Amino acid sequence: MQRLIPVLNSDHVPLHLISVINTLLTAAKEISHRLHQGSLAGTLGSTLDANIQGEVQKKLDVVSNQLIKNMLLETQLVHAVASEEEDEVVMGNPDAKYLVAYDPLDGSSNIDINGSVGTIFSILEKPDHPAEGTELFLQTGDEQIAAGYILYGPSTLLVMTTGNGVRVFTLDHTVGEFLLTVDTVTIPQETQEFAINMSNQRHWTTPMQKYIDDLLRGTEGPRAKNFNMRWNAAMVSDVHRVLTRSGIFTYPADLRNPDKPCKLRLMYEANPMSFLMEQAGGRATTGYERIMSIQPEHIHQRVSVIMGSRKEVDTCLTYFKKYP
Ligand code: AHG
Ligand code: MN
Ligand code: MN
Ligand code: MN
Repeated sequence: MQRLIPVLNSDHVPLHLISVINTLLTAAKEISHRLHQGSLAGTLGSTLDANIQGEVQKKLDVVSNQLIKNMLLETQLVHAVASEEEDEVVMGNPDAKYLVAYDPLDGSSNIDINGSVGTIFSILEKPDHPAEGTELFLQTGDEQIAAGYILYGPSTLLVMTTGNGVRVFTLDHTVGEFLLTVDTVTIPQETQEFAINMSNQRHWTTPMQKYIDDLLRGTEGPRAKNFNMRWNAAMVSDVHRVLTRSGIFTYPADLRNPDKPCKLRLMYEANPMSFLMEQAGGRATTGYERIMSIQPEHIHQRVSVIMGSRKEVDTCLTYFKKYP
């Protein structure tokens, strides 16, 4: 099986970018180890702090964030990082060109129940025009040069793209190498599975309520087939299921909190996952616009997310047209 570096070389990925990705994976191997140690590593449970998102930080949120931030900045190849767990952009080498936005630990509510969690990353380049701090990152998802996630499940997987399709690598723990296990990921168009947190149903806007209602009516409804629901409460593993066996994943806007109608973050959740979805032949939209076309206004901006099989997302979009 091919190791990561020769594969990225064959994809003509620049050496410095390979080094940034490899550094992320070194941090990921340490995170994977601490997760496998569980209680023995003393890093389960919550801290007494909340992050800028208003979430109570898990100990591993903080540890994972520190590991990734410090390792990336030490390479001198990173101009700045933006993290879910950092209020502001953290500046690195002023002469370097890579920008890394990341979610150090996605699905962290699963940590204490031994569920799957992951790390999500999105890599951009310093813009041509002079920019500082947050402004560096205010680029559309189309500007991403690499994106992916590490899924800490029964096996530790790297799923990534540099714009030439989606590849899957599996960590061989014995030698500490990520080996190529899926050369090209393609999302099947037909699906029977949807992923949504049903407990928010009463808060959704009309188009999403009508779309899900029709799914739930199965063979008695207009879809004339039965659907199955899955919800892992970790975007990385719900997205991985869609990339692996099709489906639709959505965390839609809801009416609970008018000034914060969406949950997922654009820069380090929606954009990297949208890049993977489109590269695998899928679609990623807010219901009103393509996610990777959104011009960000700040690094912790939230968006409504509907992504997966192009055919199923297009069906969902007909409800947004029918119930504007
Ligand atoms: P994070 O753990 O990085 O804050 O992200 C959690 C996100 C995402 O991973 C998942 O799809 C969603 O939150 C789950 O939300 P609910 O707990 O509301 O289902
Ligand atoms: Mn969080
Ligand atoms: Mn997350
Ligand atoms: Mn997180």
